[in-house]
Amino acid sequence: MAEEEQQDYIRIADNYEGYDLDMFCIPRHYQEDLESVLIPRGLIADRTERLARNIVQNLDNSEPIVALCVLKGGYKFFTDLLDCIKALNRNTERSVPMYVDFIRLKSYEKHIDCGKGAAGAGNVHNDKSSGDIRVIGGDNLSNLTGKNVLIVEDIIDTGNTMQKLLNIVAKYSPQSVQVASLLVKRTERSVGYRPDYIGFEVPDKFVVGYALDYNEYFRDLSHVCIINEHGKKKYTV
Ligand code: HPA
Ligand code: MG
Repeated sequence: MAEEEQQDYIRIADNYEGYDLDMFCIPRHYQEDLESVLIPRGLIADRTERLARNIVQNLDNSEPIVALCVLKGGYKFFTDLLDCIKALNRNTERSVPMYVDFIRLKSYEKHIDCGKGAAGAGNVHNDKSSGDIRVIGGDNLSNLTGKNVLIVEDIIDTGNTMQKLLNIVAKYSPQSVQVASLLVKRTERSVGYRPDYIGFEVPDKFVVGYALDYNEYFRDLSHVCIINEHGKKKYTV
């Protein structure tokens, strides 16, 4: 690579078409709704293993970690990443106690249709990027005070939501905050936010599977796939 800046994520190019659906096992009920398999789950697993190693290597183990899962989309990445971190904790000299917690983010604004960007989702339920957010579920965030917080997210799209979450978390004076996101979307709508750990940088297309949804569908799909127009139409609310 001729790039000077070190790239610490897997970049999936805009012209990359992914794999033909017939090469993998796709649930029958989604067969007509997908364009292609963008990231097979095996590759996600392998990348996750390396992210876990990077995270543990950089860890300040003077304080416990609070691993904070952003539901619902983050749940697969969270459990797989934590399994890898736990394996490292069992098998290396350095180990660090971990707490886990689960939060959901709700937008204060209810009906804003701005999912019609290049990603083309085009409906309110996929818009998580406008208005203020509030954190629901999980323990009292004051548990984060003095801890090393690792926020685990499925995808950074515009980056808006994560910036707001970071502002909220900062109010509880954690010792440190890091963010691991399985995916980062390459989009001109980005506010420029970059997480500390990135699995894959993906084109500006709407992706589903591996717990990422479109109106709550596709969480039960193993691979990260690109939804097609038929799928968007079928599951529009
Ligand atoms: N897929 C699922 N959820 C999302 C996406 C996406 O591409 N972008 C923002 N939230
Ligand atoms: Mg998410």
